[in-house]
Amino acid sequence: MRLSLIASAVLATMTLTGVAWAQTEVITARREGLRAMGAHMEAMKAIADARGNPAPTIERIDAMTAFYSTFPTRFPAGSDVPQGTNPGQTRALRVIWTENAGFVQANSNLLTQLAALRVAATSGDPAAFAPAFQQTGAACGACHRTYRAR
Ligand code: HEC
Repeated sequence: MRLSLIASAVLATMTLTGVAWAQTEVITARREGLRAMGAHMEAMKAIADARGNPAPTIERIDAMTAFYSTFPTRFPAGSDVPQGTNPGQTRALRVIWTENAGFVQANSNLLTQLAALRVAATSGDPAAFAPAFQQTGAACGACHRTYRAR
């Protein structure tokens, strides 16, 4: 009896550690992905600022569209800062889970902007690309304002 109690306590601890570990992996992967998105935006900003030919950005836009098309699934329940398990590892705010529809909508808005940006890039016209790029950045910021800690 006592042994089985100990055994189940050990098992429960192992399970909790496993869950915390899985969340750490999820958080690390999404943050890595987001940093790559930041790098895409930096590279495109240089082209937009210089009024360069935007056609070479199409690959970046496609990579971003692929990433954001599944972005909300990178926030499974518990991958915020779960009561001190991994404090400081994520800036995801709890409102992502309590107001998830708004979060998904903010993500859809970005996808809409990325589609418009792709059209502008395909046109090869710097005058079309620069404002579309700016609006894409605004769609990033709109989500961060509500759903990401500063
Ligand atoms: C739907 C909401 C949403 C959209 C849209 C969004 N982000 Fe974020 N972003 C987040 C959240 C939430 C975090 C915090 C993630 C974490 O710390 O776990 C974040 C974090 C980041 C980070 C920090 C990564 C790190 O090192 O921790 C970068 C860089 C970033 N986003 C870039 C972008 C760019 C660029 C765009 C637009 C192309 C964008 N994001 C669009 C929600 C969003």
